[in-house]
Amino acid sequence: MKTCLFLLGAIGAQACMRERSFVHHSHPHVKRQSQNSTFPPILNANEQILLSSFDNTSIAEWSYYYTHGAHVAGQNKTMAQWTADKWAGYGFKSRLDEYYVFLNYPVSNSLVLTYPNGSTYKPTLREDVLEEDPTTSYPNSIPTFHGYSFTGNASAEYIYVGRGQKIDFDRLQSLGVELKGKIALAKYGGPFRGLKVKNAQDYGMIGAIIFSDPGDDGNMTEAKGVAAYPAGGARNPSTVQRGSVQFLSTYPGDPTTPGYVSKPDSVRADRSKILPGIPSLPISWIEAQPILQALNGFGTNGTQVNRTGWVGAIPGVTYSTGAGSNASLSLSNVMNDTYGTIWNVVGIINGTNQDEVVLVGNHRDAWIVGGAADPNSGSAVLIELAKAFGKLTATGWKPTRTIVLCSWDAEEYGLVGSTEWMEEYIPWLKNAAVSYLNIDVAVAGPIPDISATPDLHSISTSLMKKIVYPYRGSNNLTLYDVWVHEGGVPGVLGSGSDYTAFLHRGIASIDMGSGGGPNDPVYHYHSNYDSYAWMERFGDPGFHTHKAMGQYLTLLLYHMVSDPVVPLEPAAYGPELLKYYRALNTTIAATNYTVDLTPLQSAISNFTYAAREFELLRSKAISTNDSALLAVQNHKARDFSRGFTSQGGLPTREFYQHTIFAPGRDTGYAPVTFPGITESITFDRNQTLAQEWVVKTSRAILVAAGILKT
Ligand SMILES: *[C@@H]1O[C@H](CO)[C@@H](O)[C@H](O)[C@H]1NC(C)=O
Ligand SMILES: *[C@@H]1O[C@H](CO)[C@@H](O)[C@H](O)[C@H]1NC(C)=O
Ligand SMILES: *[C@@H]1O[C@H](CO)[C@@H](O)[C@H](O)[C@H]1NC(C)=O
Ligand SMILES: *[C@@H]1O[C@H](CO)[C@@H](O)[C@H](O)[C@H]1NC(C)=O
Ligand SMILES: *[C@@H]1O[C@H](CO)[C@@H](O)[C@H](O)[C@H]1NC(C)=O
Ligand SMILES: *[C@@H]1O[C@H](CO)[C@@H](O)[C@H](O)[C@H]1NC(C)=O
Ligand SMILES: *[C@@H]1O[C@H](CO)[C@@H](O)[C@H](O)[C@H]1NC(C)=O
Ligand SMILES: *[C@@H]1O[C@H](CO)[C@@H](O)[C@H](O)[C@H]1NC(C)=O
Ligand SMILES: *[C@@H]1O[C@H](CO)[C@@H](O)[C@H](O)[C@H]1NC(C)=O
Ligand SMILES: *[C@@H]1O[C@H](CO)[C@@H](O)[C@H](O)[C@H]1NC(C)=O
Ligand SMILES: *[C@@H]1O[C@H](CO)[C@@H](O)[C@H](O)[C@H]1NC(C)=O
Ligand SMILES: *[C@@H]1O[C@H](CO)[C@@H](O)[C@H](O)[C@H]1NC(C)=O
Ligand SMILES: [Zn+2]
Repeated sequence: MKTCLFLLGAIGAQACMRERSFVHHSHPHVKRQSQNSTFPPILNANEQILLSSFDNTSIAEWSYYYTHGAHVAGQNKTMAQWTADKWAGYGFKSRLDEYYVFLNYPVSNSLVLTYPNGSTYKPTLREDVLEEDPTTSYPNSIPTFHGYSFTGNASAEYIYVGRGQKIDFDRLQSLGVELKGKIALAKYGGPFRGLKVKNAQDYGMIGAIIFSDPGDDGNMTEAKGVAAYPAGGARNPSTVQRGSVQFLSTYPGDPTTPGYVSKPDSVRADRSKILPGIPSLPISWIEAQPILQALNGFGTNGTQVNRTGWVGAIPGVTYSTGAGSNASLSLSNVMNDTYGTIWNVVGIINGTNQDEVVLVGNHRDAWIVGGAADPNSGSAVLIELAKAFGKLTATGWKPTRTIVLCSWDAEEYGLVGSTEWMEEYIPWLKNAAVSYLNIDVAVAGPIPDISATPDLHSISTSLMKKIVYPYRGSNNLTLYDVWVHEGGVPGVLGSGSDYTAFLHRGIASIDMGSGGGPNDPVYHYHSNYDSYAWMERFGDPGFHTHKAMGQYLTLLLYHMVSDPVVPLEPAAYGPELLKYYRALNTTIAATNYTVDLTPLQSAISNFTYAAREFELLRSKAISTNDSALLAVQNHKARDFSRGFTSQGGLPTREFYQHTIFAPGRDTGYAPVTFPGITESITFDRNQTLAQEWVVKTSRAILVAAGILKT
């Protein structure tokens, strides 16, 4: 899963529930940020051992293993055990942690378009089998479907609803379009797909079809002269994006055990608030084309709807709303609702300080036999990371802090493996977790990207200077050079990958990866063409980017677990909080609501002051070599961000506890800052509630400040 920031303008893109989206404009020449990076980077002896252990050909071998067998959630224990055995071979004490969760699998589906004259068109709902891409013809390849979708039929006229955000449906209503009882035809991109289905349902619609659109592929389109995969880098027209339709922004994890762990004897809650109650299907652009064309000339023309992202680039389509077309769809979706076992792999090397733990996670499950980018570029990298630490421990080195490697299952259904695991181990994590480092789509293209909590910005960006990063034919640049060239701003965490559960319990988190821009080969997200064959030819020929991303994660983990000073910078929250405060003030000023932000402003000043005191004391501990004081400061750095969480959770969603950032309720991927306050205004339109959240948020900031002080 991962983020789609079409909403915010510019973009970050890596993980896996997250879609392909464009990072920044490319410039023809990359200048080395030479003020303080040397080339080649200077490494100490341990860094040298770790980084020189990385081998692109063995990464390719791990990638090959992961991408040649079906591994949808809960369906491949062999692969989990193989992962555990690999890690164990490199010295990690490894085990499988099982959970018993609600999942559903596709049984059958169909779709028929009936034209006003009674003739019909019946899409195949299948992706083409390609000779050049062997895993597309595997007999056990996975049909196109939506995870956690609703079993049912729907037959009705249909309306094109754009990206399917609330604002799109509101626009349709203001255009006088009747939505009740109709089927929604929505475009992928923008909000998380489950929210498109939720909105359709909330507006009284009875089914949803979601299509991919080459309008989201930048310059890499057949219309612009690029051959389609497998001949070239444009989207194969038959590509279908599978994926979960859980209501991600309400609750991730097993929808039948909100807030507690899923074991065989767990009490099961009503799942209907978190999963759709109407059927849905994904479809390729080539098969959506006739369905959209049947709406041409009916209702409001696409260009007249005046909504961002409404008009796409499917030839011969006007993206009209379609009201009054008299064309209808008949859809059927049959899923097998079931409970089953999932397997997280957990690998541990104890540190000398066992009350300080650093976690590294990647999910293993994929919607398809392949999954070469999502998520197994990350899985392949993690094995190589384990190997590197194996080489280092062979020299007698021991980590100061405990290392926990995690290979999550069922991430794709809704971050299920990581969420259930967090819910089981929360007492330990609250006490001991220093940070959680996530890698999902390690590689889907050449452009690196990170999103992180502010306290991790400094360490994560400075270490980029020590990594040689291959970029568009250059081999004398560092990751830092390339990242700066591509925009060089760490993103804010929303949701879409496994950091979510940890972040929302106040644990410092980072998510990293790389993706393609508008002129790079299209990455076929959640499609059969996210395959080893695609990766080898288009995504990362030679697996050199895999190697660089793996080295980066390895170096970050190494410093997190071995630097005498925990490399978190609480003070970095100060300027970020001020930035979010100004944005909130602007948001409120644009409405008629009156919200007193004074308590928030004052809490931010207090935090800033406390963080400065903390820094001074930490510097003193270092300069006077006072190890007792340093240990205290290290624990404060570990703990302070727990303060940002609010026990009862954000309005309407108890799970999401972080008061500083959260996925938007109607975006799912993209973050909202000061979410309790902001969404009380933008979503609930409730001034009283907003004022209450000013108090709660300010209190949380003061709790964080208090932890730094005591
Ligand atoms: C240069 O980098 C080193 C290590 O990353 C750092 O300690 C030092 O402060 C940097 N100097 C400047 C001028 O940025
Ligand atoms: C599990 O994955 C492995 C590795 O890709 C593969 O060899 C095996 O066939 C898969 N098992 C099943 C049941 O699909
Ligand atoms: C697409 O290609 C054209 C011509 O090469 C270029 O000017 C434009 O910037 C490219 N678009 C993007 C989004 O990069
Ligand atoms: C869309 O906006 C344009 C100008 O901004 C306006 O002329 C047009 O009437 C709008 N269309 C609709 C359907 O409101
Ligand atoms: C409808 O929009 C298309 C572009 O999508 C445009 O070519 C066409 O002229 C428009 N038709 C009307 C009637 O506005
Ligand atoms: C549904 O799944 C169960 C296992 O949970 C299996 O026994 C059953 O055969 C499946 N039914 C269908 C129709 O696939
Ligand atoms: C780590 O140490 C604890 C005791 O504090 C022990 O129970 C556990 O087995 C050790 N784990 C590993 C991976 O060595
Ligand atoms: C880096 O490599 C490019 C060619 O890719 C070359 O033009 C340039 O001079 C090199 N720069 C340095 C500092 O080595
Ligand atoms: C908050 O917004 C008001 C109204 O736009 C403006 O006058 C004020 O300067 C803003 N305050 C801050 C701190 O940005
Ligand atoms: C503010 O209130 C006025 C008068 O009631 C109304 O015309 C205007 O649309 C409102 N503005 C916003 C942004 O809600
Ligand atoms: C903020 O800090 C000041 C100065 O340290 C202190 O007097 C005040 O009580 C603090 N405010 C709160 C709400 O904690
Ligand atoms: C607004 O929020 C307040 C405080 O939570 C609540 O009591 C009130 O019912 C809400 N108003 C509406 C219209 O929902
Ligand atoms: Zn993923």
